[in-house]
Amino acid sequence: MVQAAMEWSQETVAQCVATVISSRRSVRAFKPEPLRRELVEEILGESATAPSGANIQPWRVYVVSGAVKDELANDLVAAYRAGTAPPPAHFPEPLPDVFRTRLTDFGARYYASLGIDRHDTAARMHQTEKNFSFFGAPVGLIISIDRRLKPHSWIDIGLFAQNLMIAAKARGIDTCPQVSFAPFHELIAAHLQMPPDEVTAFGISMGYGDPRAKVNQTRMPRERVQDFARLFGFPA
Ligand SMILES: Cc1cc2nc3c(=O)[nH]c(=O)nc-3n(C[C@H](O)[C@H](O)[C@H](O)COP(=O)(O)O)c2cc1C
Repeated sequence: MVQAAMEWSQETVAQCVATVISSRRSVRAFKPEPLRRELVEEILGESATAPSGANIQPWRVYVVSGAVKDELANDLVAAYRAGTAPPPAHFPEPLPDVFRTRLTDFGARYYASLGIDRHDTAARMHQTEKNFSFFGAPVGLIISIDRRLKPHSWIDIGLFAQNLMIAAKARGIDTCPQVSFAPFHELIAAHLQMPPDEVTAFGISMGYGDPRAKVNQTRMPRERVQDFARLFGFPA
């Protein structure tokens, strides 16, 4: 049983959790409505219940809002426009076909939701630029990790981030995880006075999503269970 909710049936708990998990979306247009510091701290505390290998808890989180967020965003936008950051290297080249197909499908859905022609490079760049102003969210988070750790520990910060996005969604707060920040580590580290051992892994925009924005109405499909999982040893 889930201990904190003993008065609820197991079925109710499962329904609540499924509802919150499945209603999370990457939101890319936010209302300016601010988030209270206490609420952000509550979400962070809940996120930190994430498991981590040997409980080393490798996540480091920088939360920016108000003028601090705006200054960081302004500098990031300027750096993006100037093209000074190293090119993004989030995926290997060549990307195996199965992933290339999904990435292409993602791009088609994303830009179609905005009415952007996929050949319109300027419009696409303009949209990408919005990553760096946290898509207008009142709160931005930069998640960093000690660069000496191995890929294994990056799993931990992903689990932390998923907890965070679910804890936020349970409170009606939306998020967008963003690896776009990673190439701008030097600029971000200088703004946030990160120790030299840390590296920016990704960022998260957080706030109340604008439900009227077309970009927020896109739904990204998922593979079916029978297409990505193989189950062994169960009775037929
Ligand atoms: C590690 C990670 C990095 C991502 N980076 C970006 C990003 O830089 N910009 C962006 O708009 N979305 C980014 N996304 C959001 C994905 O595009 C999104 O999760 C995916 O298309 C599935 O859609 P959904 O989150 O709405 O279900 C990222 C997601 C993850 C998990």
